[in-house]
Amino acid sequence: MTLSAQSLSKRYGAAPACAAVRDASLDVGRGDFISIVGRSGSGKSTLMAMLGALTKPTQGRLLLDGTDVWTLSESERATFRACHVGFVFQFPSLLSNLTAADNVAVPALLGRTMPAEDAYARAHELLARVGLADRAEAYPDSMSGGEQRRVAVARALINAPPLLLADEPTSDLDENTEGDINDLLVDLQRRDSFGCVLVTHDLRLAARAQRSFEMRQGALTPRELSRADAAPSRSVTPASVAPMPDVPARAPIRLGESLWRGVRIFLPAAAAILAAILLTDFGVETYQSMRLRERTARHAALQHLALNRLRGDVQSVTDLGDGRYELTTYLQNVGGEPIYVMTPQMRAFVQVASLWQEVPMTATEENATGVTEILGKQTYRYRFDARVRDFAQLLPNYMHVRFSGSMLVSPSSTPNDDVFERKDNYYVYLKPFDVTDEVVLRRMRFSGKPPVWIPMPPH
Ligand SMILES: Nc1ncnc2c1ncn2[C@@H]1O[C@H](COP(=O)(O)OP(=O)(O)OP(=O)(O)O)[C@@H](O)[C@H]1O
Ligand SMILES: [Mg+2]
Repeated sequence: MTLSAQSLSKRYGAAPACAAVRDASLDVGRGDFISIVGRSGSGKSTLMAMLGALTKPTQGRLLLDGTDVWTLSESERATFRACHVGFVFQFPSLLSNLTAADNVAVPALLGRTMPAEDAYARAHELLARVGLADRAEAYPDSMSGGEQRRVAVARALINAPPLLLADEPTSDLDENTEGDINDLLVDLQRRDSFGCVLVTHDLRLAARAQRSFEMRQGALTPRELSRADAAPSRSVTPASVAPMPDVPARAPIRLGESLWRGVRIFLPAAAAILAAILLTDFGVETYQSMRLRERTARHAALQHLALNRLRGDVQSVTDLGDGRYELTTYLQNVGGEPIYVMTPQMRAFVQVASLWQEVPMTATEENATGVTEILGKQTYRYRFDARVRDFAQLLPNYMHVRFSGSMLVSPSSTPNDDVFERKDNYYVYLKPFDVTDEVVLRRMRFSGKPPVWIPMPPH
């Protein structure tokens, strides 16, 4: 297998200055060990996402044994991701409600690359190889950062991919643990001879590769491997990351709208059936319990998509006068693949004593309706009326407001059983329209004018 990146570029905005990666070329075959170093924001993760076909390049080609991966069908590309590449991400990426063994088996179960029984047998074998034989049934929360990263390494290898993409797999670990994980990766690579592209800030580790590159402002250039690199104290200092430019939102699409309506109606029924299956399956033969794990894993993967790859929050609240306000929320797809959502329903509440009093809220007409494909950032606007008397004042003179949203999320525009219902609560302090700035400033200090709204952490 040879994966050949030819002049890959990726732009996130329209301006040429928004190029995260420009003209990057790289060949990696079985047994190759390649390292990439570079400052924060230089485009390393973007390049890795393109190498794994998680993100489509704006220019250039990704060839697998001569075939352009982006000319393949979506399902063939899914097979490429499942069978040819394993990923170890920069951030903790285990599913918290699954055991270590489940987490390792998930890519095999989702990609249907082997029967569930074999997937679990291999998961246990891999956990033993990464030194976690006795932690197979542990949940991520009860594992140390280093143990979690070992599980992620085992998960990346479950489908025995000829290529491993590891994006700063140790960035958040202490030095000793980092050294252990790095040794583990180098050892596994030598023994199994898979191709490996490793992004690291550790120049000593980078120097253990056969070829090393540096990413600088999106450009990939070969580095000379000198003995100076092996000196213990050198590392690339990460700089602060530039704010992400907004990605233009896609126009709404209306595919399968009636299907979504059906899905909404049948979702509670499906949940009840799943609950019944969960209850009755206990104590059955191994095969059936494997199937149960498979379903749970699917649900967990869907939940991961809906909760971790789709960020949502309040963008702004503006005062329209007379107690009326405009709320703008956003959803941002932080992964590479499209996510489909059914228009979020939003309600607003103001706290009065210890109760939440609902206030009138309507979606504005410019909001996308029906099923919307979210690729970058999508905003939604709502108008609401917050003329409420005797509101609770957790912050002097400010109302305590809750916005509650719910929406259906799916990786597919025509979903059948792959739908997740996501609920969000956003909390803010809101300045009432009939309280003057002077009154607010009597009891609170602000550097300038008292703000109309103050975001609160989730609670
Ligand atoms: N989804 C996105 N939308 C818009 N801009 C993005 C997106 N992802 C990355 N960028 C921008 O592209 C540039 C490269 O980001 P990337 O994450 O690839 O850098 P990196 O080298 O991996 O950084 P780090 O070492 O901090 O992980 C940055 O300027 C970043 O802000
Ligand atoms: Mg990165």
